[in-house]
Amino acid sequence: PRVKGWDFSFLYQYQGFWCPPKFFHGILSFQRHFQAKDTDIVLVTFPKSGTTWLKALTYTIANRSRYTLENTPLLTTPSHDLVPFTDLEIYSKNQSSILEDLPTPRILATHLPYASLPHSSINSNCRIVYLCRNPLDQFTSYWHFVLQPQPADPVSIDEAFEKFCQGVTMFGPVWDHELGYWKASLEKSNNVLFLKYEDLKEDIIYSTKKLADFIGCPFTNEEEAQGVIEEISKFCSFDNMKNLQVNQTGKLAHFGMETKAFFRKGKVGDWTNHLTPSMSKRLHNLMEEKFGESGLMTFLQS
Ligand code: A3P
Repeated sequence: PRVKGWDFSFLYQYQGFWCPPKFFHGILSFQRHFQAKDTDIVLVTFPKSGTTWLKALTYTIANRSRYTLENTPLLTTPSHDLVPFTDLEIYSKNQSSILEDLPTPRILATHLPYASLPHSSINSNCRIVYLCRNPLDQFTSYWHFVLQPQPADPVSIDEAFEKFCQGVTMFGPVWDHELGYWKASLEKSNNVLFLKYEDLKEDIIYSTKKLADFIGCPFTNEEEAQGVIEEISKFCSFDNMKNLQVNQTGKLAHFGMETKAFFRKGKVGDWTNHLTPSMSKRLHNLMEEKFGESGLMTFLQS
């Protein structure tokens, strides 16, 4: 089935999630041909959940022995180009050979649900970092990013929310996406780390440390004493990243989008300015029903 008027192009359902057909080639090719390495770090998000931030943080942590914050490539290259989507960018352009040349650990990125990851990733010992976000804020961010700015085919926020609650959104339904990684993180806690945007906002030092430990690049006592964690967290903060020249005037190499579109408000709870309490209640009830006894609702509300 396909749905019109809701994205750059129509959305189709593939393996239970919704996606524009222009992505199919890259996704299929990634699923069929990708060879994971045990040292890989795979960053996964539902779109508009903090991908840009997670890429910057992970890249900086993993490459801190190669680059300082004064000469990091992030000063001149958007985090999306330093950590491109493996399926939507690398495989979609038949550039998989560049994966062989990436330094160890390779940092990869995808929006795919857990059940649709390439078998070799699931069967390897690679580390998967999943970042989720309050779906009301994620939806609000998505609406501003994709849906509102299309004057030729405008979508009202009410109409978009209706579709969202039916699960029809890029890589949706959101509840299946989150639940897949949540269950995997419980079953394979050494391989799947489940993070929350709101936790990163609340205590970025703790989250940066946790991320570094998980990806196998822990901070030494000496680094901690020197304030390296604080420096990296501050460097990757919304205000600092948004104000970098590259993120004010740059364009993404693959998608051609303006980098500034990835930095809007960077806040928790902006949904209250766009959605009503009854919309929130509806989504809450829906998620509660879908998550059942998994414990995910409790985690998201903690
Ligand atoms: P808002 O639209 O709510 O401001 P993604 O990177 O997955 O596309 O998500 C984009 C969202 O993350 C946007 O949310 C954006 O402002 C926010 N964001 C981008 N960089 C961030 C950072 N360094 N810290 C916190 N939020 C950030």
